[in-house]
Amino acid sequence: MKRREFICGLSCLIAGFGIGQVVPFKFFKYTDKEDGIERVGLGGFTVAVSSHCNLNCKGCDTYSPLAKEEFVSFEDFSRDLDKLKELAPDREMNIAFMGGEPLLNPDITKLIRKTKEVYPEPRSVILTNGILLSQMSDDFWKTIMECEVDLRITTYPINIDRSSYEKKEKEFNINIGKDILKADKLYDFNKKEVIDDNYKEYSEGFEWSKNVLDLNGKQDYVEKRKSCPHRGIVQYARGNIYYCYVHAFINAFIDYFKVDIPITKDDYIRIADVKDIKEIDDFLSKPKPLCRFCKQCHNTCYGGEPLEWGFSERKISEWT
Ligand SMILES: C[S@@+](CC[C@H](N)C(=O)[O-])C[C@H]1O[C@@H](n2cnc3c(N)ncnc32)[C@H](O)[C@@H]1O
Ligand code: SF4
Repeated sequence: MKRREFICGLSCLIAGFGIGQVVPFKFFKYTDKEDGIERVGLGGFTVAVSSHCNLNCKGCDTYSPLAKEEFVSFEDFSRDLDKLKELAPDREMNIAFMGGEPLLNPDITKLIRKTKEVYPEPRSVILTNGILLSQMSDDFWKTIMECEVDLRITTYPINIDRSSYEKKEKEFNINIGKDILKADKLYDFNKKEVIDDNYKEYSEGFEWSKNVLDLNGKQDYVEKRKSCPHRGIVQYARGNIYYCYVHAFINAFIDYFKVDIPITKDDYIRIADVKDIKEIDDFLSKPKPLCRFCKQCHNTCYGGEPLEWGFSERKISEWT
């Protein structure tokens, strides 16, 4: 699968329409009264369950190798979900648990159960690197089954034991989805070194690529927005809604490399402050100042430059 198709798949998946499975996805669409243009409002979002990660891929989209340990607060999430339901009782909300690595969050089952309580439909999704799956408790697997969550693993070229979760898959009658990364080397997860130079098992899959930032902030963010591949990949983090995950996680990049990229109040909207769901729809329909720092929309395929998958060395060149 090419990167662009993958991300289309991902945005569909995030919206509850995993590749080849689950419910058909409907973006929430509305016509803007000011200009008569049909726009996409809040119809779902990915949750930054944990901002950090236990794998730390080179050039990770969500800057997880640079992130400090940070978990979504269960209290904030519950309050915000209840608020969204109150603001738009009839609206579907497609929710995907992501990160960073979502399984690092000790409250993961509580988060899933709360989501199922507030939004019994459509099915939510968890996207994980699978590393912790063999250690997850039966309560986790029961929650996945009972709450009908679509569990999807990104399969990286690392030597983790997949047999234990394949057993759980059978035991709990779950169909785990797999998004396979194209790679031609196998790595030892603990030693972080190549153990097989002729690795072919996952040679057919989506491609890894570099998401390039413009540190000078010279991108035309009004124009480029029209072709942005992130449309619809709305992100929830720290009680806020962000237009995309670059905006939600770029703070880790800024803090780590001490670069001057301003995050302004126009770049996010705080759910607790919202009085009408239209405020969030309007927020999502407007270009964002942070888009000036993102080069992705200018590339012909999503993400642009191909990048060989590997462990991050936390160099700025992985993202610029
Ligand atoms: C940021 S991860 C978070 C969830 C989980 N840790 C995982 O890896 O599945 C979400 C998805 O984005 C993909 N992704 C992140 N950075 C990428 C990159 N630079 N190129 C291609 N895909 C990328 C991952 O492979 C994964 O499928
Ligand atoms: S893409 Fe890699 S580094 Fe980023 S969150 Fe997923 S597993 Fe972690």
